[in-house]
Amino acid sequence: MRTLALTLILACLPATAAGPIDEGARLAATCTACHGPTPVTGNALPPLTGQSREALLASLRAFKAGTRPATIMTQLAKGYTDEQLALIAAWFGQAPTAPVTGKKDRQ
Ligand code: HEC
Repeated sequence: MRTLALTLILACLPATAAGPIDEGARLAATCTACHGPTPVTGNALPPLTGQSREALLASLRAFKAGTRPATIMTQLAKGYTDEQLALIAAWFGQAPTAPVTGKKDRQ
């Protein structure tokens, strides 16, 4: 009985083994605070969703290296490891329109 109860509890828990995409989604949530969760026409900042993984990663690396002029993105990009930037780029690159937060889109 105890085993059954434990099995049921474990089955109800969300998957805790975060894969690369899950980790990318977690990291990407921060970016959407400024860039928005989905491509929004008229947003002051360029949308990240809808861009290719390669283009995003190139931009992020350039921000981090300081070779692309920016106001805030240089400081932000420097706060992430190269692996984290790759995960973030991969996440946005594979989810062209998916909201990051999972909340209903209010467009
Ligand atoms: C505090 C607000 C803010 C946050 C948070 C933020 N950005 Fe930005 N982002 C900007 C601004 C402002 C620009 C325009 C460049 C500049 O002046 O820094 C920009 C530009 C970019 C660009 C260039 C887009 C293009 O098409 O030219 C990319 C890529 C980018 N951000 C990625 C990210 C990622 C990835 C994250 C999360 C790790 C993130 N940003 C978080 C404000 C933000």
